[in-house]
Amino acid sequence: MKILAIESSCDETACAIVEDGTKELVSVVASSKDFHEKTGGVVPEVASRKQLEFIFPVLERTIEDYCEKIGCSDKEEAVASIDALAVTVGPGLVGSLVVGVTAAKTLSMAWKKPLIPVNHLVGHIYANFLGDPSEITFPAVCLLVSGGHTDLVLMKGHGDLAYLGGTVDDAAGECFDKVARMMGISRYLGGAVLSKRALECKNPGAAKLLPRPMLDQDNYDFSFSGLKTAVKRYLEGAPRDISCTAREFEEAVVDVLTVKTIKAVNHFGVKSLLVGGGVSANTRLRESLKNATEAAGVKLFIPEPRLCTDNAVYIASAAYFNNVTKDLSEIRAEPSLNIMGLT
Ligand SMILES: Nc1ncnc2c1ncn2[C@@H]1O[C@H](COP(=O)(O)OP(=O)(O)OP(=O)(O)O)[C@@H](O)[C@H]1O
Ligand SMILES: [Mg+2]
Repeated sequence: MKILAIESSCDETACAIVEDGTKELVSVVASSKDFHEKTGGVVPEVASRKQLEFIFPVLERTIEDYCEKIGCSDKEEAVASIDALAVTVGPGLVGSLVVGVTAAKTLSMAWKKPLIPVNHLVGHIYANFLGDPSEITFPAVCLLVSGGHTDLVLMKGHGDLAYLGGTVDDAAGECFDKVARMMGISRYLGGAVLSKRALECKNPGAAKLLPRPMLDQDNYDFSFSGLKTAVKRYLEGAPRDISCTAREFEEAVVDVLTVKTIKAVNHFGVKSLLVGGGVSANTRLRESLKNATEAAGVKLFIPEPRLCTDNAVYIASAAYFNNVTKDLSEIRAEPSLNIMGLT
């Protein structure tokens, strides 16, 4: 089954076509992040206007690339071979979401194809089902670490998710971004920049100078807001080496994420850990989870870095696995499809 998915929850406008939830045929991503760099953060109105500007070229390009890939004679033939549409319906910026949802509903009605609503966060988890997902076993623990969320979820099967805990304040990605801005090394989406700077630290101290918030609490919750303040105080205290401060900070975040995740893995006795969201592109986190899961005898699944941040490939995959057993003819475009309904 071939699904064309649209993702427009924040500042990426993305479209992809995926076969049977696992085989990526085409993926196109446009981003307005350069505009938000200027303002040091997303201005929702700017993001939604950029969505509107990008959505048609992104859709056009997707169909063109797909047509070339499957060797079809014209776009009608390409469209005819698509079985269903999927779209991110939340969570996200409402103005941005509306653009993708409206495009998807319109295409669904014009092409007379089913439209599957997908939750963006569930989508992040499904980045692990691209390629060969046969080794993923249920129940699985999922760690979602993105720009806006940090959650631990127990996945008992497709469509059967139970929330275990999550951040009580900032998300891990948001904390990376704010600390990078505080350090003056990036104005927007500084996680990857901070991580690169951390690698340049020549003399990492042995002492753990920053706190590991909520690590000793008997729950699956996180808190990153205080850590951010601790970095601020640390930087104010004396002249600091920025690279080594970045490393200290990154280690504190990675320690907390790893310990709490492994605690959930052990408690529920799962054999698979699935990680998703932009922060899962972080090299130190990947290494730390790899070592911890090897020690625990658990299989680790982390998407390739390109699929960690927002794209439509995983939206198509989530749509497939959550609907493959259903009669798709029942999932028609609903003019009343509530974009916040699944948040
Ligand atoms: N290598 C990295 N190290 C740490 N953080 C990273 C890295 N690469 C990306 N990030 C962070 O990932 C976040 C972006 O991820 P993502 O695109 O999943 O978030 P989002 O879609 O904005 O939020 P959400 O998915 O919660 O709606 C940013 O905070 C960014 O700094
Ligand atoms: Mg995201």
